[in-house]
Amino acid sequence: MTELAAAALVQRGITQLTGRSDSPRRDAEVLLQAACGIDRTALAKNPDQPVDAAAADTYFDFLNRRYDHEPVACILGRKEFWSLELELNASTLVPRPETELLVETALESIPIGTAVEIADLGTGSGAIALALAAERPLARITATDINPDALSQARDNASRLGLAIHFEEGDWFGPLADRRFDVIVSNPPYVRDNDPLLQTGPALFEPPLALFGGQDGLTCIRTLCASVKDHL
Ligand SMILES: C[S@@+](CC[C@H](N)C(=O)[O-])C[C@H]1O[C@@H](n2cnc3c(N)ncnc32)[C@H](O)[C@@H]1O
Repeated sequence: MTELAAAALVQRGITQLTGRSDSPRRDAEVLLQAACGIDRTALAKNPDQPVDAAAADTYFDFLNRRYDHEPVACILGRKEFWSLELELNASTLVPRPETELLVETALESIPIGTAVEIADLGTGSGAIALALAAERPLARITATDINPDALSQARDNASRLGLAIHFEEGDWFGPLADRRFDVIVSNPPYVRDNDPLLQTGPALFEPPLALFGGQDGLTCIRTLCASVKDHL
C-alpha cells in the first residue's frame, strides 16, 4: 500500500464517523494522532504529510472500532480527567467530565493545607482520589474498589502520576473496618439493570460492575447511605 496524505486520512475518518459519533472530526484527528503521532498543529501546518502504510492500517482499525461505537477513551486506553492523564483497562469506567463536579464539590469542604482523611469508594481508575490528591497534597486518601483489576490500574495511575493514595480491595466500607473519615466521596454504579439505553452503544465497552446498580439502579447508593454515618 502506498503512503497516504494525513489530511486525506482525516477526511476519510470524518466521512466514516459522521452519523456514528457526535464529534467525527475530533475523533478522526485524535485517532490519527494515536496511530502515527501527527497532532492537530502538525496537521494544520502540513496537511499533505505522508502517513506510512502500517500507521494508516492502525488508524483504519481505530476508525472501525469507533464506527462500532467503542468510545475513543476505550480504543486508546486513556482519558484525561482533571488535567490528569489516566490510563484505563477493561475493568475501569471511562471517567466522565461530569464527575469533575463531584471533585469540585468535595474540594469546597477541604481547606487547603489541612491533613484531612478522605475515602473514595469505588475508585475505578482512581480518577476522583487522584484529582483530590493533586489538589490537596496533605490529605490522606484511601481508595477502595471491589474489582482487583480496576484497583491495579488505579495503583499504576497513582504511581505514574506520583500521587500518594492508600488502596484497599473490598465491598464498599468492608475493607475500612471501623475507620472514620472527614470526607467520603463515591461515584457508585447507578444505572438500572436492563436499562434499554445501555443495551447498545458505548456501554457495551465498559465494565458492567461499574455501571449497573440493581433493578432500580439504587442498590449501591442504599448500601452506602446505610453505612456512611458509621464512618464520618
Ligand atoms: C461508576 S464507577 C466509578 C469509577 C470512578 N470512581 C469514576 O468516577 O470514574 C463505580 C465503581 O464502583 C466499583 N464497585 C462496584 N461495586 C462495588 C462494591 N460492591 N464495592 C466497591 N466498589 C464497587 C466498580 O468496580 C467501579 O469501579
